Amino acid sequence: MAMNIILLGPPGAGKGTQAARLVDERHMVQLSTGDMLRAAVRAGTPIGLQAKAVMEAGELVSDAIVSALIGERLDAAESTTGAIFDGYPRTLAQAEALDFLLGERGRQLDHVIELAVDEEALVDRITGRFTCAICGEGYHDRYKQPVSAGACDVCGSREFKRRADDTEETVRTRMAEYRAKTAPILPYYEALGLVRRVDGMAAIEKVGAAIDRILDHGSLASTGAD
Ligand code: AP5
Repeated sequence: MAMNIILLGPPGAGKGTQAARLVDERHMVQLSTGDMLRAAVRAGTPIGLQAKAVMEAGELVSDAIVSALIGERLDAAESTTGAIFDGYPRTLAQAEALDFLLGERGRQLDHVIELAVDEEALVDRITGRFTCAICGEGYHDRYKQPVSAGACDVCGSREFKRRADDTEETVRTRMAEYRAKTAPILPYYEALGLVRRVDGMAAIEKVGAAIDRILDHGSLASTGAD
């Protein structure tokens, strides 16, 4: 059955890590507004030019821009295996826009999976993060090094990169934005009975197993990451 799920959590909570796994293992479609915006910045499109400075400051890009990006991708992401919203919605206005965008396509949300985390530990996660410059595989200085030092596990490339907004100062702004603008959308989804909480501080595999239980068994499953 095609599911529509949101992965919700502050910067570094593991949304992208878990979304990538669901794409690999369940062939779901990942809709990451962060990835879309970074692609627009790289391509130098009008949206990219507008978003670049905002992203580097750790602030939120306008609701109209990100909801338009999601709207464009939703049709292309029509899949039999479902969609993962990663980093969207981030404000109440975006949550309402997503309801509208899904509703006009006869679709609806199945789960809002909140990755509950300790914010201080996230600074360490984010400032240690890097990716393969060629295939995008994600790594971490301490938690996930390439198996063969200096070479990507997936494509063998020896080129890696770090995100421009992964400095400690910017991470703290991104977290403040999360607390002020994104966390307040939880009550909206709680009222709809859609929120499932997962311990995002557990090991990556355990977080994945907890998410799998939710997708396979719905709200009746244990959502602990034990
Ligand atoms: P975006 O790209 O969405 O970034 P983010 O929300 O800040 O999230 P991250 O990608 O930093 O973290 P993540 O939760 O995906 O963690 P990850 O899996 O990589 O947004 C960037 C910017 O774009 C925003 O600041 C804003 O300006 C703009 N933007 C995007 N969407 C927007 C929207 N809707 N509205 C307005 N503006 C928008 O994990 C992090 C690291 O930890 C990795 O190294 C990973 O290996 C490691 N890790 C993951 N899980 C674990 C674990 N369980 N244990 C140990 N290590 C782990």
